[in-house]
Amino acid sequence: MSREEEKTMPERIVIDGGNPTVTSGPVEWPIHGEREEELLLKVLHSGHWSELSGDMVQEFSQRFSAFQGAIYGVSVPSGTLALEAALQALGIGPGDEIITTSYTFIATATAAISVGAKPVFVDIDAASNCIDPFKVEEDLTARTKAIVPVHVGGNPCDLDAIIEIGNRYGVPVLEDACQAWGSAWNGQPVGSIGVCGAFSFQESKNITAGEGGIVITNDQAFYERIWSIHNCGRHPDGGLFEHSTPGTNFRMTEWQGAILLAQLERLPGQMRRRQRSAEILTAGLGEIPGLTPIKIDNRATACSWHLYQFRYDAGKFGGRGLGDFLNAFAAEGVACSAGYEPLNYQKAIRDVVKARFGDDAVTPVPQAEAAARSTVWIPQTLLLRDDETMEQIVHAAAKIQHAWS
Ligand SMILES: Cc1ncc(COP(=O)(O)O)c(C=O)c1O
Repeated sequence: MSREEEKTMPERIVIDGGNPTVTSGPVEWPIHGEREEELLLKVLHSGHWSELSGDMVQEFSQRFSAFQGAIYGVSVPSGTLALEAALQALGIGPGDEIITTSYTFIATATAAISVGAKPVFVDIDAASNCIDPFKVEEDLTARTKAIVPVHVGGNPCDLDAIIEIGNRYGVPVLEDACQAWGSAWNGQPVGSIGVCGAFSFQESKNITAGEGGIVITNDQAFYERIWSIHNCGRHPDGGLFEHSTPGTNFRMTEWQGAILLAQLERLPGQMRRRQRSAEILTAGLGEIPGLTPIKIDNRATACSWHLYQFRYDAGKFGGRGLGDFLNAFAAEGVACSAGYEPLNYQKAIRDVVKARFGDDAVTPVPQAEAAARSTVWIPQTLLLRDDETMEQIVHAAAKIQHAWS
């Protein structure tokens, strides 16, 4: 083969014996340093290890709520419990329905099931992978007691439409913002746009204490109810043995509060890096036939980029399925995965929902099915790498497309 012929040959991809394109993997996670150590030791030596005696959890709750545009925040042990406590504080229980998306983590649904409510799963909008507001309205009934949109990967849902529907029917909106720290809609941080918002600080999350969660709100009465639920039925201004409701113990520890305070200080800088990375990926991947970055609405003024999502069209890759692409992409050095399976098709949820609410409680969600067959996720830890890595990721995808088309 002549030199000229060699030049026009497609570059060999790794699974065919070529060299990996991407030289850096995801950053080591979680990131921590002297600030976390300083605050953790402060808790240790203070002897105040519980929210009942210390001030770290309270300080974090205030700082995070302010960062996220809300007056009040109640920190809890996980995002799952944040959702559960929020549903309880909204007075939701047996006989009630909540409307949510089928394209989400299982906790969005199990929180409803835990309080005895029926999760009604609606389909997604194909461009954004977020809940389709039109489908929300179609499935509203007199039993609907909350709409629970999920900002998947940090991509804000169409909150204009969802809040408008909620207002028109008198149904509160609980934002599952468990992946959306710092995301904003029309300049307003998410989680503070509905009646309340739930966030997770689990280990894989952009800000973490290993585990943790928070509910934020601008509604004082809601805040007092949820504060009481999380703290054994006490009242914010009441005594240690004064209990106005049974409540429960959903308190976060001071250790988590300390780490989260330090993590929150790191978040704005990391957000800027992820934003830049996402821009490079969108510009590059969007040019490759068969790859379509997930749409971020113009009204979404900030995104956490917990996940970078794009759709894969096998037709432009010689008919090779998503699994083949993920393997080839991973071999090039790109940490990636497929996204969610629709929640209402998963056995754990389907069986419970059918047993409790009848066979017709599980309805088809064709767009979420299509998303499961075609979406690729790149994790936030890879987005923290530099411009060169992002260019390499784009190059790796182009190489595969070229080799297979
Ligand atoms: C969309 C969504 N909702 C809820 C949760 C539950 O949060 P946690 O794992 O902190 O309980 C998660 C966590 O992965 C999530 O991604």
